[in-house]
Amino acid sequence: MSDKTILVTGATGNISSLVIPQLLASGSKVRALVHSADKAKGLSGKGVEVIVGDFDDPASLQKAFDGISAAFLLTPFGEKADALARNAIAAAKKGGSPYVVRLSVIKAGPDAPTANTRSHGQTEKDLRESGLPVACLRPNYFMQNIFGSLQAIGSDGTFYQGMGDGKLAMIDVRDIADSAVKVLLDRSHAGKTYSLTGPASITWRTAAQAFTAALSRPVKYIPIPPEAVADNIRKMGWGEWAAGVMRDYSAAYGSGWGDLVTGDVMKLTGHPARSIEQFAREVLAPALSRK
Ligand SMILES: NC(=O)c1ccc[n+]([C@@H]2O[C@H](COP(=O)([O-])OP(=O)(O)OC[C@H]3O[C@@H](n4cnc5c(N)ncnc54)[C@H](OP(=O)(O)O)[C@@H]3O)[C@@H](O)[C@H]2O)c1
Repeated sequence: MSDKTILVTGATGNISSLVIPQLLASGSKVRALVHSADKAKGLSGKGVEVIVGDFDDPASLQKAFDGISAAFLLTPFGEKADALARNAIAAAKKGGSPYVVRLSVIKAGPDAPTANTRSHGQTEKDLRESGLPVACLRPNYFMQNIFGSLQAIGSDGTFYQGMGDGKLAMIDVRDIADSAVKVLLDRSHAGKTYSLTGPASITWRTAAQAFTAALSRPVKYIPIPPEAVADNIRKMGWGEWAAGVMRDYSAAYGSGWGDLVTGDVMKLTGHPARSIEQFAREVLAPALSRK
């Protein structure tokens, strides 16, 4: 592949799997860092150069970062994310210093209320200090997180959250992908940071109304305490770090920490950010009807 290749990491995940087809449609050459080869079936058939590798395996990471012009750097949620990102930064510097578009998180920084947000703040700092040309995308809470409650919504029309009546400008992952593509294809965004949000700051009660309308049957939001969210995460076997993060996100969002709407999706993509009603009709309802 030529030096105009764009590397997409996290290639089979929520955001990157929507980024890749748009990059291909733009005529870009795409290389994908794929963690599990079996999940990547089909990507090479679409003209993507697939590198099976791991952020924790320097040799495979170097293969992914060698000779590219730009990279979409998305690390998985987890305690090691900032260390994995540091491995990627080292590989990028060694591989020719490409333009890096980092998938970060809303309000990333050292004083943030969750360990995940502080970890993203550390990676943004590491990237700034790396000397690489970098643009950061900081999305708010994903609407698609409700997929964790798909079973309960489908079976008894309920879902549980620990955010009380806190308002947050949750965002449709499709808008994050659309924004990422624009930023990846235009290096003049280097040095900039965008806070990506949905079009409105809403509570889960408003979301439940949108789900009810889209599914044509009642969907009820049941608030639970942040500590109960942590207990559920522990029961799912996600571990203590994730339990603490989800408890702290619940408390923060419950107190209005995510209550900010920006115009950055519109500025980058030229289209308004998708509403919760659109998400409910176009994403949630079809997913439930496939179950
Ligand atoms: N959820 C939210 O509300 C929210 C809000 C703002 C920011 N974020 C941030 O968004 C990011 C997650 O984005 P997403 O939802 O698109 O991700 P995702 O769907 O969880 O996908 C993660 C991807 O990373 C791959 N991966 C996992 N471990 C790997 C490793 N060791 N080496 C290489 N690849 C690996 C996974 O492959 P396998 O599945 O094969 O392992 C998968 O393709 C996180 O950084 C999170 O902090 C999330």
